[in-house]
Amino acid sequence: MTDFVGAVDQGTTSTRFMIFDHSGNEVGRHQLEHQQILPRAGWVEHNPLEIWERTQTVVRTALNTHNLAAPDLAALGITNQRETTVVWNRHTGRPYYNAIVWQDTRTDRIATALERDGRGEVIRRKAGLPPATYFSAGKIQWILENVDGVRAAAERGEAVFGTTDTWLLWHLTGGTDGGAHVTDPTNASRTMLMNLETLDWDDELLSFFDIPRAMLPRIVASSDPHAYGSTLPHGPFGGPVRITGDLGDQQAATVGQVCFAPGEAKNTYGTGNFMLLNTGTDIVRSEAGLLTTVCYHFAGSAPVYALEGSIAVTGSAVQWLRDQLKIISNAAQSENLARQVDDNGGVYFVPAFSGLFAPYWRSDARGAIVGLSRYNTDAHIARATLEAICYQSRDVAEAMAQDSGVALECLKVDGGVTVNELCMQLQADILGVPVSRPVVAETTALGAAYAAGLAVGFWRDTDELRENWNESRRWQPSWSPQQRATGYAAWRKAVHRTLNWIEV
Ligand code: G3P
Repeated sequence: MTDFVGAVDQGTTSTRFMIFDHSGNEVGRHQLEHQQILPRAGWVEHNPLEIWERTQTVVRTALNTHNLAAPDLAALGITNQRETTVVWNRHTGRPYYNAIVWQDTRTDRIATALERDGRGEVIRRKAGLPPATYFSAGKIQWILENVDGVRAAAERGEAVFGTTDTWLLWHLTGGTDGGAHVTDPTNASRTMLMNLETLDWDDELLSFFDIPRAMLPRIVASSDPHAYGSTLPHGPFGGPVRITGDLGDQQAATVGQVCFAPGEAKNTYGTGNFMLLNTGTDIVRSEAGLLTTVCYHFAGSAPVYALEGSIAVTGSAVQWLRDQLKIISNAAQSENLARQVDDNGGVYFVPAFSGLFAPYWRSDARGAIVGLSRYNTDAHIARATLEAICYQSRDVAEAMAQDSGVALECLKVDGGVTVNELCMQLQADILGVPVSRPVVAETTALGAAYAAGLAVGFWRDTDELRENWNESRRWQPSWSPQQRATGYAAWRKAVHRTLNWIEV
């Protein structure tokens, strides 16, 4: 038996390739960042060709470093930043425009008009999403309306759309014309174009954005032995590897955290935070500002759904301290600086840089630091930033309890920020429940590997995957109920200050 499974994780700030063994342990990895293109306030773009270049390099480097080759891999899974929109020419492989990233707010008028024209309810019912700049459909519409020649090319079937999973799958399997033009329901459910019940593109939703159906990829199961094809021999793998898994990164992390039963939830701390609660085969409509999304669809089984609380800015607020305020020189220093003080000194920071996502969905919000007095220092700002990560997660946890009627008993966490011990302690304090981190914190790539490995029988079933999950660290709440309640009330007041800041 081949010993390993590979996973490409194409994220917002970097692309990595990871190799896992049968116990779910990491065998090797390589990772490279790509450029964040910020042409004007609110716009965020990536160069899709740079992403494809980086993907090839990380695959080649990780395989070479560990003396592995295509025949050592039983399967390959792909996972990706969701919603980020690429439109390219199917004959030349050239993108018509940079990728428009999920954080980009240029489509705020498109989103507002949907609500004003009474289409919001249809989108909520069919796609499970509120109209917002976050999702792909408005970004596709923007490219069709603003980039010369794209609409005509789309109508001729030459201009095609994909999230970055689709972009990479197309290159890995064929490049021009012959490549697979596919995605999975977890990614498709983030476009505002897929019907959650049929798992297919919906003509009424397509008509809202005037998007030709011919542009869109085929939606196939997230774990499937046949739908994706194999890597090209002359590509970065140097030989054929079966591609059998594709999941949006947050759904992949849910799989990597083995949240396979209804009621199980995880919170991933990356650029943003994303809490997902498995709701089983039920499509649960949120009353409290959460998204309804596909959690995973393994071929041969019914699709599984989730409620999701998406937060746009968490880890990227720490990057902002580093890159813009320059009060730290690396992310790890945020912990040391915040530890210089015992509390936030009355300061609350609401990093509503892209408006506010769940549970507020307010594109008119902008960031604010409130409660300042002359006593405050950069240490209070650092502490308020870490608290903001945790308070935003509390907002989402409250919404989940409201929608599901079940209060959280323990929060499973993963992602880059979870190495910040102070932040995790604050999370337990602010939520009032224990926080638990697994040994393998790279649950996103692991989940994509699991989806791929299940399809080829590398792993037998989800019970076998559960046995791979082990806790590495647990944080217990230490604040008094009174302290927790006072802090949260002040946070809510601070959030209120950020609303109605700009006109959309
Ligand atoms: O929905 C956006 C999300 O998929 C991005 O995740 O980890 O790339 O910031 P990440």
